[in-house]
Amino acid sequence: MTSSTVITNIAALVTNDPSLGDNSPLGLVRDAAVVIEGDRIAWTGESSKAPATDNRVDAAGRAMIPGFVDSHSHLVFAGDRTEEFNARMSGRAYSAGGIRTTVAATRAATDAELEANLTRHLAEALRQGTTTFETKSGYGLTVEDEARALRIAARHTEEVTYLGAHIVAPELADDPAAYVALVTGEMLDACAPHARWIDVFCEKGAFDGDQARAILTAGKARGLHPRIHANQLSYGPGVQLAVELDAASADHCTHLTDADVDALASGRTVATLLPGAEFSTRAQWPDARRLLDAGVTVALSTDCNPGSSYTSSVPFCIALAVRDMGMTPDEAVWSATAGGAAALRRTDIGRIGPGARADLVLLDAPSHVHLAYRPGVPLVAGVWRRGVREV
Ligand code: NIG
Ligand code: FE
Repeated sequence: MTSSTVITNIAALVTNDPSLGDNSPLGLVRDAAVVIEGDRIAWTGESSKAPATDNRVDAAGRAMIPGFVDSHSHLVFAGDRTEEFNARMSGRAYSAGGIRTTVAATRAATDAELEANLTRHLAEALRQGTTTFETKSGYGLTVEDEARALRIAARHTEEVTYLGAHIVAPELADDPAAYVALVTGEMLDACAPHARWIDVFCEKGAFDGDQARAILTAGKARGLHPRIHANQLSYGPGVQLAVELDAASADHCTHLTDADVDALASGRTVATLLPGAEFSTRAQWPDARRLLDAGVTVALSTDCNPGSSYTSSVPFCIALAVRDMGMTPDEAVWSATAGGAAALRRTDIGRIGPGARADLVLLDAPSHVHLAYRPGVPLVAGVWRRGVREV
């Protein structure tokens, strides 16, 4: 028999289900309780009405939110790029070319080194409330190095993305067409069994719209679903291509035309904003307000990678999004939980309601608003993943 636990005395519970709470998108419940049975949520409601259970945890008047769903990270890598960051903060511009540094370090690393680095970053993210994460290949760029990155990632998450098309592999820099043929041929054959998603960095210095379309279409034919790094460093075709291909997500969305915003509003593609990247590259902020006002579904993620955004902290991204991207604290918390789930086309995570996975974060604060109100403060007091208390 699975045991049941009630968490009572939650001052403010974010369910992300309007029907369970105050009818707002966050579905807020005051003086709430949550019942966990096995790895699932069995019940939510007011503390005074909570059913009897085997175990009891007192939240002591603190807030609870769904575990963060970090739908965009690049965690299979070796080495770091402190010097590049340092040079950038002294005025040098960011470009896609820096990826080569990490490719060299990743190719030189053993499987054990890559996996140890991945688990170290996952533990770091878990302590900050992330209970689901997507992660990508993209620092191998050979058939074997891409496939091994995906094999390693798949041991830690079901949300694995094949990003052979991060940049053209350095040894084929003079022959991009040959690299696209590899990415859509032999490399795809080796990688498709280990991934759920396929991604392309559609950007100057990486892949153009035609190349991106060819790569994503080949992936779709092999059962991988598209997501795109789109419009990060400049205007480009990535966002509209994402909508055309029904990609689950267009990621970055920093440089958008009105036609890009209209396309996102008309389709199912989520706009995933990654403010850690704009922070670490000192770039213009994505305009979340513009997207939200147009009715676009927005997700908020870390983009954790050693080049453009070396943070695993979703709370940090929430604070940036509220301060600099026009989001309200409620919107930012929704986007980092339910929005991330939408970007992964998942309905079992990013919410706290009967049947959902028991992924919960207890905050050392009376309200989820403190995530933006108290930036840089470690507010995560407890984390349950699949019903098990991990922090
Ligand atoms: O999402 N944009 C492309 N890829 C990463 C950067 C990777 C790197 O610089 O190593 C990103 O920002
Ligand atoms: Fe990225």
